[in-house]
Amino acid sequence: MRVLSGIQPTGRIHWGNYFAAIRQYIDLQQGNESYYFIANLHALTTVREPKVLRQNTLDLAIDLLALGVDPGKATLFVQSDVPEVSELCWLLMTSTPMGLLERCHAYKDKKDKGIPADAGLFTYPVLMAADILGYDADVVPVGQDQVQHIEVCRDVADKFNHAFGEVFILPKAKVLDNAAKVPGTDGEKMSKSYNNTIEVFEPLKAMRKKVMRIATDSRPMEQPKEPEGDHLFQLYSLFVDDAKREEMAALYRRGGFGYGQVKTALADAAEAFFTPAHARREEYSANPKRVEEILADGASRARKKAGDVLKRAKKASGL
Ligand code: ADP
Ligand code: TRP
Repeated sequence: MRVLSGIQPTGRIHWGNYFAAIRQYIDLQQGNESYYFIANLHALTTVREPKVLRQNTLDLAIDLLALGVDPGKATLFVQSDVPEVSELCWLLMTSTPMGLLERCHAYKDKKDKGIPADAGLFTYPVLMAADILGYDADVVPVGQDQVQHIEVCRDVADKFNHAFGEVFILPKAKVLDNAAKVPGTDGEKMSKSYNNTIEVFEPLKAMRKKVMRIATDSRPMEQPKEPEGDHLFQLYSLFVDDAKREEMAALYRRGGFGYGQVKTALADAAEAFFTPAHARREEYSANPKRVEEILADGASRARKKAGDVLKRAKKASGL
């Protein structure tokens, strides 16, 4: 299987990014050919400060390495280091119906709110399709919100194949049931744009504070509660094994507890879970040269693969 995914360097990564996407990267790098990249070209649609974009890109590379992306197994690189994909994006653009892009939510939401959108945002899904098709990826590990983009990718590939023969492999999204949509501190989807995130590399004290401030309802302590659908319980479940999860579920159903107790248990579990990655992050941060080398090596491997696919697509289309 060939696995590929990307994350935008638009800010520090949060629990939603980790449990939906990055955790899958780490599992899937074992025994598969895998490509993971930092989507700085996509980030240009929102980040307009060169210094910030550069810093975010390096930070995200360090985050991924600290969390367990292993350059001995996976190819880790920066999107803009592989120009072949941008060229492929043009070829795909000529097979992309406007209507398909008009329906995509990132563009549609902005348009519906009357916010002016640029062509970069409109064609965002085509570049994403080029990212995926350019490496012959079979599987794309992501959170639920990216599934629409992968459907667009399949449609674009299908149209191209229809015109020019079987050039591209149609990829599948891989979404984890228990982390398809991780809730934030307000119970809505955790997202950098909603100011409701808990970051993976937040100093542990600050992280505990955020956990203690997670919004809960005002039902009395003694009242039994349903764990299913409760966002605090959902977050706790991400960090613990089945036995601990069931123990907590039983406590909910029995009642007679305060949400403060659950928050403390969640903060303890999260702290234990991320402490080793925090330590590894320190090591990589102290050695940015090593990180640059890993990215350069990743880019050269990625260029080789994307170059082969681009050649195939150009030949098929008469270029
Ligand atoms: P954000 O929405 O915070 O800007 P990104 O768009 O950078 O996050 O997403 C990077 C990856 O993390 C994608 O695969 C996306 O589907 C996933 N993801 C982001 N937020 C969540 C969430 N709350 N639940 C599940 N997956 C998420
Ligand atoms: N659009 C994705 C996000 O916001 C990032 C991304 C860019 C991506 N290219 C990709 C994800 C290719 C998977 C495959 O999260």
